[in-house]
Amino acid sequence: MSAGLRVGHGQDAHRLVPGRPLVIGGVTVPSERGADAHSDGDVLLHALADALLSTHALGDIGKLFPPANPAFADLDSRTIVTRVLAELEERAGTARVTNVAAVVTLDAPKLGRYRDEIATSVAKLLGIGPDAVGVTFKTSEGLASDHVQASVVLGVTAVTPALP
Ligand code: C5P
Ligand code: MG
Repeated sequence: MSAGLRVGHGQDAHRLVPGRPLVIGGVTVPSERGADAHSDGDVLLHALADALLSTHALGDIGKLFPPANPAFADLDSRTIVTRVLAELEERAGTARVTNVAAVVTLDAPKLGRYRDEIATSVAKLLGIGPDAVGVTFKTSEGLASDHVQASVVLGVTAVTPALP
């Protein structure tokens, strides 16, 4: 058996447009604008999925979910994370997320009141406690008011079964 901590990092950004839902970490937040995206445009979960894949150099979510495939239109991004976790298990053995550090940059609306709900939603998806999911909100100070962005750093311990 070999076990070790690996760090992952992912980022994502989407343009904000009227008439689309704003979904952050699987939570739909009331907002006049939402992400212009092929899927539900959940920047936090997209960054999280890429961070998970990066721990074992497995490429990125575009490889697993080509944006041109109509089957993925308005896809619930929780499906992406679940699929990525399965890929990780297959390639790296039993993988456990130690903790998540997520930063969401958005000028409006303010997200503070949704922090616990978002952390709980992400934690549930990963099968870890909400106290292992740090969620930080930042504005862009007006420099990117038409965008929502997320950056995620996380740790994964993978226990690879010994070869027979
Ligand atoms: O970007 P700035 O440092 O000015 O953000 C100040 C605070 O506003 C953040 O620390 C965060 O608590 C809060 N915030 C928020 N929702 C956002 C952006 C920032 O709750 N969309
Ligand atoms: Mg500041």
